[in-house]
Amino acid sequence: MNKKVLIISSSFRTKGNSARLAEEFAKGASEAGNEVEFVSLHDKKIAFCRGCLVCQKTKRCAILDDADLIREKMLHADVLVFATPVYYYGLSGQLKTLLDRCNPLYCSNYRFREIYLLFAAAEDDEDVADRTLKNLDGWVVCYPEAHLKGDIFCGGVNDVGDIEGNPRLQEAYEMGKSV
Ligand SMILES: Cc1cc2nc3c(=O)[nH]c(=O)nc-3n(C[C@H](O)[C@H](O)[C@H](O)COP(=O)(O)O)c2cc1C
Repeated sequence: MNKKVLIISSSFRTKGNSARLAEEFAKGASEAGNEVEFVSLHDKKIAFCRGCLVCQKTKRCAILDDADLIREKMLHADVLVFATPVYYYGLSGQLKTLLDRCNPLYCSNYRFREIYLLFAAAEDDEDVADRTLKNLDGWVVCYPEAHLKGDIFCGGVNDVGDIEGNPRLQEAYEMGKSV
């Protein structure tokens, strides 16, 4: 089935390791006939959530910035794919900030049903993956119509380019193809 797939890459290193996983996923999903959109947060202005909770009454955020457009794309996507570097055993701050700013989605008729996480870290340790997945889980459980369908963790990569030739890239491509 043709799906709307929104890929949100959060690293400021646009050719970095998690961005490469996202690119391969996008390639696979697109070749399989899905409608794929790739958004990178590196050039977006996304302010912190202020916790005003206006969104719970109005379903809109009181802050007007790039999060608005991204949130709108998230609302209408079938599949959300988040790509992030691991920062201190968790999601990047820029991705976490976007997720906080998605609070208006919480009480909306969101369409997405499947969520994927692609993440890269210097350490190649299960503990890094587990902690980072738990970090996203707190967001996913707030969207009961959706679930985490898949994840790819690439450990042992630190510098830009380290991921080249890593089998995780092929896995990301295959995962994208199977969306
Ligand atoms: C602020 C910061 C925190 C980091 N924290 C961790 C960490 O907790 N565990 C780890 O294995 N790597 C950590 N790293 C390394 C990155 O996860 C690693 O360089 C990764 O490949 C970056 O992905 P990117 O190329 O997609 O930006 C950290 C890097 C930075 C800059």
